[in-house]
Amino acid sequence: MTIVEDAKTAVQSAVQGVMSKLVPLAPDSWIPGGVPDPLIRQQHGLIGSEVSRLDGAFKVQGSARFAAEFALDDMVYAALVFATIPRGRITSITTASAEAATGVVLVMTHLNAPRMNKPAVFGSSSTAAGPSDLPILQDDRIHWNGQPIAVVLAETQEQADHAASLIETTYAPEPSTTTFEGAKAEGAQPGLFMGQPLLTEIGDAEATLAAATHRVDQIYRTPRHSHNAIEPHATTVAWVDGTLVIHDASQLVTAAAATIADVFDLEPEQVRVTSPYVGGGFGGKCLWDHQILGAAAAKLAQRPVRIALSREGVYRIVGGRTLTEQRVALGANADGHLTALIHTGTVAMTPHNNMPEPFIAGTRGAYAADSFKLSVETVTMNMLANTFMRAPGEAVGTFALESAIDELAVELGIDPIDLRLRNEPEQDPTSGLPFSSRHIVEAWHAGSERFGWAKRNPVPRSHRDGEWLVGMGCATATYPYYRMPGGAARITINRDGTALVEVAAHEMGMGTSTTTAMVAAERLGLPMDKVEVRYGDSIIPGAILAGGSQQTAAIGAAVIAAHNALVAELLKLAGNDSPLAGLSADQIGSEDGGLARLDDATKRESYVSILERAQRDSVTVMEQGSQPLELMHWSMHSHGAMFCEVRVNAVTGETRVSRFLGSFDTGRILNPKTARSQFRGGIIMGLGLALMEETQFDERNGRIMNPSLAEYHVPVHLDVPEIDVIWTDIADPHTPMGAHGIGEIGITGVGAAVANAIFNATGRRVRDLPITLDKLL
Ligand code: MOS
Repeated sequence: MTIVEDAKTAVQSAVQGVMSKLVPLAPDSWIPGGVPDPLIRQQHGLIGSEVSRLDGAFKVQGSARFAAEFALDDMVYAALVFATIPRGRITSITTASAEAATGVVLVMTHLNAPRMNKPAVFGSSSTAAGPSDLPILQDDRIHWNGQPIAVVLAETQEQADHAASLIETTYAPEPSTTTFEGAKAEGAQPGLFMGQPLLTEIGDAEATLAAATHRVDQIYRTPRHSHNAIEPHATTVAWVDGTLVIHDASQLVTAAAATIADVFDLEPEQVRVTSPYVGGGFGGKCLWDHQILGAAAAKLAQRPVRIALSREGVYRIVGGRTLTEQRVALGANADGHLTALIHTGTVAMTPHNNMPEPFIAGTRGAYAADSFKLSVETVTMNMLANTFMRAPGEAVGTFALESAIDELAVELGIDPIDLRLRNEPEQDPTSGLPFSSRHIVEAWHAGSERFGWAKRNPVPRSHRDGEWLVGMGCATATYPYYRMPGGAARITINRDGTALVEVAAHEMGMGTSTTTAMVAAERLGLPMDKVEVRYGDSIIPGAILAGGSQQTAAIGAAVIAAHNALVAELLKLAGNDSPLAGLSADQIGSEDGGLARLDDATKRESYVSILERAQRDSVTVMEQGSQPLELMHWSMHSHGAMFCEVRVNAVTGETRVSRFLGSFDTGRILNPKTARSQFRGGIIMGLGLALMEETQFDERNGRIMNPSLAEYHVPVHLDVPEIDVIWTDIADPHTPMGAHGIGEIGITGVGAAVANAIFNATGRRVRDLPITLDKLL
């Protein structure tokens, strides 16, 4: 706990850039001698090779079991009823007809639900897994329009759904705030992200702006976004001899199990959360009301429960990204040097969650400027708690900042790439820390050449192809490198020469299980088919969050630590009759199915031989990953240069993205095949952010009006051109494998790259997402 808290504070501090007084470490603590990657001692070339997903075949064959596909004996199906007012009390809830309906086993409301503690909200403790700390079905209070107020269990899903429709509720509404303007009028609070203020001030940015010879000063707006993973949230839950077993779709099994244990007053070991496959997470597959309601209903009915949210159910109870209103003001000299960088604004939150969209996060390290004023303020609305959504902060913050940079380039008559390069910082401009690895200039050059940027006419509306106005735009992508503490790996070597590697990590579709097998096989000196990876189960030691794009780094550090322990353990077992006798563990690595002396591989013994002589069936070690000290000494980020070509129809205003290139600088790429998909997936989500996605929020009553994929648009195949992706592949010497996270950076910068391309095509500057055709007519 203390370790977790300490390192979390370190991470927060690094993010907040208040550690500038620390002296950087010499390169580097990871491996003596400056070899960039301790994992690659054997160099048999697995890392960096194109490996197809190990679970791909299971998924296409339908044998991969997702949370809603666990069939338990005697299981019943759950349906939810959602409140229809934003705030107030339930005065009556009539359940008799539902209870009498065919197949109904239980109707649970606040009147008969078991007493439960409220879940801990993110950031309140190291094991908190809840986006909100409201009590769940414990009283008659309504906190948002869509809150679950009843659970119906029945023998079939259809029976449960029908019975839920028979429940009648009356309310005593109370005053509520459901307009953003109204919320702002009630006053704003300083934003706190993970306990740290969202505020950075260097110099007098307003005065510097006022004195600048060239200025841009604009307001940019982004709407609410709802989570729309292809797999709607689902949980299958059973109480087995006092133990709660939850098959969930989760990106944080360990924290979920701990939080659920607290809610039901259980010991941590009495709750087991599994999550072998997840159909997309993006920050949304955390702990919401449905897992707890499912467990509570199963307790009351004494039968296993499957609770699978409808798509509408996801919109009602799973929060997404909140709306933002951002001011970006840039002051510059005639040569483009930034003198003032102001990025401030307001986001809406609820009284019961703590996730302000930290849109200034990427701005802190983006450009060298003489003065800075960066802040996020929050206002309070009565609505569904918002939460993390792919690149929270950067996804929408880069839209504002990178649009403004493009506007300044127009104002100055400087090429927008050139303007960015002129303001490339030597060190982190707000924390003062050196960058661990920043090769964004290389990414810009490589991308610009590949995309054909030189062919762009900087004069807007100068390229027409029939009805279509064609333009190009670009933007910087950025996302921090994180590595959270608390991760562990357990490695077992068996006498038949196979290995089992266990990590409490998650496969949400991004390729983690494949990459983990590659990393483990490389480290253990085994072919991949001799390594089994187990993950997605809270009974595995350690906690590895699939979030903050940090999972792979956390796994790598844990595997490295466990492997070091394994070498020491095997060396002990090998004893005096081994060719390795007399050597110390740090002289030895793994190679070709056994241990070998690092500087003389002829001194070696296979795992099988060591275990046979020791008369052991297997050897198992478990070790925590090292503390993420790198974050204290370096400013660490993934970078990218995004290029977009659009065609805007001059008659209809319709925008088609015709080409897109992401040129990334994200450290070493472990598996190019899954990495390419990660980058492309992020970019596609960014195209949705730019052109389509918007949660329609009824400001009269706080109800989401478009809770379906028919009315909430995300990009489909015809909206997505061939997306080109390249990367520098320059290893960061300060991370466990030379790698940076790649899960979230893809969405960043895309909104601005599209908006800037639309400006170049049409001469129209749209500062209000999504850029729908009505804004271009
Ligand atoms: Mo990501 S929004 O940290 O799952």
